[in-house]
Amino acid sequence: MTEIIRKVTDLRALVAGWHRAGDTVGLVPTMGALHAGHLSLVRAAQADCARVIATIFVNPKQFNNPADLAKYPRTEAADLALLQQAGVDVLFAPPPEEVYPLGFASTVSVAGVAGPLEGASRPGHFDGVATVVAKLFGMSRADRAYFGQKDWQQLQVVRRLVADLNLPTLVIGCETLREADGLAMSSRNTRLSPRARAIAPALYVAISRAARDLRAGSLAALDTCHAALLDAGFDSIDYIDLRDGETLLPLSAPTSTARLLVAAWLDGVRLIDNIPV
Ligand code: PAJ
Repeated sequence: MTEIIRKVTDLRALVAGWHRAGDTVGLVPTMGALHAGHLSLVRAAQADCARVIATIFVNPKQFNNPADLAKYPRTEAADLALLQQAGVDVLFAPPPEEVYPLGFASTVSVAGVAGPLEGASRPGHFDGVATVVAKLFGMSRADRAYFGQKDWQQLQVVRRLVADLNLPTLVIGCETLREADGLAMSSRNTRLSPRARAIAPALYVAISRAARDLRAGSLAALDTCHAALLDAGFDSIDYIDLRDGETLLPLSAPTSTARLLVAAWLDGVRLIDNIPV
């Protein structure tokens, strides 16, 4: 049975008992609307940890657009059924006032790695992510936490946060789960019209080709990728960039740690993806 917990004190008491028993505790932070990508993180956590907590909290501080926050899907009953089926021990789903009580005044802000790409396109987003992740680590006292490479920059921001603040939680990055046609799984995919859903796989096709061309020494690979996405039917591209995978600093040629990252708009939906080069 997956137990639902809404209060930090209850979560603390449960985890303290697990730790006394010598159990390793894994944390899978999410905003709900769960899909197979989220469940792959749960399975990775279960492979390493005796106890697994999934969290669902639609974090208002990481939405720079109030309309986006309002229309974020909230499907707790269906999410709980999936977590139950997966054998998760606890669903921690606190109300906003439990996470941000009256008087809450602190912000965790990661510079550098959080600046470009998503940081530039969505001002304040990573402050919200870093603040809530630091809080989830503090609230749960989990030993390990699992994040998807789908949100590559977010994973690097969390790694930087943990290193800089000496947080005792070990961060594990997990492979991006994709649909059969290559589209990275995302809760946003459900917002694509049938026409847009048919176009969307072009994103992974285009960056895979660009990665291959970059490795072969092509200087035009990023421009070609940009044109290919517009040709395929994407409306606009926020960025297609070759970056160092850890620092997110720009690269002019591939290295052993290079990553190609993209964000593009299709039918009013912003899709992101990334691959190693
Ligand atoms: P959310 O978008 O719900 O994603 C939760 C976790 O699932 C993240 O670590 C994300 O990278 C991972 N994930 C999403 N799609 C995936 C896929 N196709 N394959 C593998 N993993 C995937 O990311 C957030 O929530 C929030 O920012 C959060 C970290 C919970 C802080 O609020």
